[in-house]
Amino acid sequence: MKAEHHVLITGGAGYVGSFLAGELLRQGYSVTVVDDLLYGGESLMSCLPHASFHFVKSDVWESRAIRTAVRGDWPTPQAVIHLAALAGFPACQSVGRLVAWRYNVEATQHVFEQAEALGVERFIYLSSYSNYGLSTDGKPVTEETPLDPQSLYAETKVASEQYLLSQVGVSRCAPLIFRPATLYGLSPRPRFDLIVNQFVLEAFSRRKLMIYQRGYLRSFVHIADAVHGIILGLRLPLEKVRGQVYNIGAPEGNLTKDQLVELILKRLPETFVYYKDITFGGDMRDITVSFNKIQHELGFTAKYSVDDGIREVLRALQDGLIREPGDPRYRNARFIVQ
Ligand SMILES: NC(=O)c1ccc[n+]([C@@H]2O[C@H](COP(=O)([O-])OP(=O)(O)OC[C@H]3O[C@@H](n4cnc5c(N)ncnc54)[C@H](O)[C@@H]3O)[C@@H](O)[C@H]2O)c1
Repeated sequence: MKAEHHVLITGGAGYVGSFLAGELLRQGYSVTVVDDLLYGGESLMSCLPHASFHFVKSDVWESRAIRTAVRGDWPTPQAVIHLAALAGFPACQSVGRLVAWRYNVEATQHVFEQAEALGVERFIYLSSYSNYGLSTDGKPVTEETPLDPQSLYAETKVASEQYLLSQVGVSRCAPLIFRPATLYGLSPRPRFDLIVNQFVLEAFSRRKLMIYQRGYLRSFVHIADAVHGIILGLRLPLEKVRGQVYNIGAPEGNLTKDQLVELILKRLPETFVYYKDITFGGDMRDITVSFNKIQHELGFTAKYSVDDGIREVLRALQDGLIREPGDPRYRNARFIVQ
């Protein structure tokens, strides 16, 4: 096995990681996953038969977790893709600042330090477009727009980004940061606390949708497209991506909540929609996102639309593929915010 074919994914049992791990194995990579299995590990079952798959259960905040996870008879990974985090505003809010910081900021530092010490050349970090917060002038936000995090989750993502960018020119390991839009679609670890998936589930199972912040603009991207973007970041020449930040998504994914509801009503017209004028004071996002940089520099295009995602989730529910979609394991916190 060659080093350039070995990738280590932290948080690889999660929604993004389990999809990515399967895709990398399919494309001929060897994959090590390090995950503490906060939401279980069934998502990795189909990876287990691959001889080129290696799993280690470990908390990546621990100072030697990555070093001990690299198998002695396997080469140093070409890249570390750091996904392990308490993902989402409700999950961070429910554990509080100290714990959220430990999982989302300190762990990033510890994983990066070990990647550097191991001689890993590339470190891909999944940040979030929630870092932009609210737009003041209504123009699409670009990677250059000053960040204005509105939630504890976004604060932890910004802090991790700042740490990683401070390593450019100091460390040999090259950080590359992606800020994906909100993901939708299914993966081996389905999540129903992501707005598109959650709306489809509620409209399907309760025939009701409660909407707040109805005119707010959000941005969405299909999980398969996001994974495709991450893999582009793995393949591009190192010097092209060192210290770069890319939004992942497509202009068509910029939608108001009302537009999203319209798409859902096209497929589930019997849904009763009602509106509430409340905010949760934490995850305010009202922006249009520019995806010019990833399109022009990395040649990224999205294959899936939000409507494709709605159809996919609805089909899985109608066909009973997910027996208990309301089960807490499909959510990162009980406190769910749409
Ligand atoms: N889902 C989205 O819409 C979205 C959008 C933008 C960015 N992201 C980011 O992408 C990454 C992955 O998100 P996801 O949706 O797959 O989340 P997820 O919650 O489904 O998966 C996270 C995984 O990380 C693991 N984990 C968490 N802390 C750990 C630790 N200390 N040690 C070991 N394992 C740990 C969990 O067990 C879980 O398997 C996160 O960093 C998230 O912030 C997600």
